[in-house]
Amino acid sequence: MTKVKQLIDSALAARNMAYAPYSNFKVGAAVLLENGEIYSGCNVENASYGLSICAERSAICRAIAAAGNRSIVTMVVAAHPLATPCGACRQFAVEFGTGIQIISVDAIDTSIQKTWTSGDLLPESFSL
Ligand code: THU
Repeated sequence: MTKVKQLIDSALAARNMAYAPYSNFKVGAAVLLENGEIYSGCNVENASYGLSICAERSAICRAIAAAGNRSIVTMVVAAHPLATPCGACRQFAVEFGTGIQIISVDAIDTSIQKTWTSGDLLPESFSL
């Protein structure tokens, strides 16, 4: 199985764990590290809506916390309909590189995909 297929499967499995009682919009994400490891995350909403965390940031935080390896190569986002990462997640992703491949897939028909780099999604991004 290709790494991208594994990432899609991982994002789909994480999407099933989504806690989205307010929007009912479930999202899963999975990141592939340079060392081949995959970490996934889902959106976790809150009654205080603004505290909700997106699947992408959830997956990135898991990878950083668990792996101690910040070389993110690819991130897959799975939702139905296909979702493009929000502004906050774009900024969060470029922290770890403007060359991360980001693939959004439709969770029902995974042949529907859009691909960018993190830099494409956030041109002239802020960094220190
Ligand atoms: N959401 C994500 O997790 N990722 C995206 O790319 C788009 C939006 C979540 C946030 C919220 O829990 C729900 O989807 C509806 O906006």
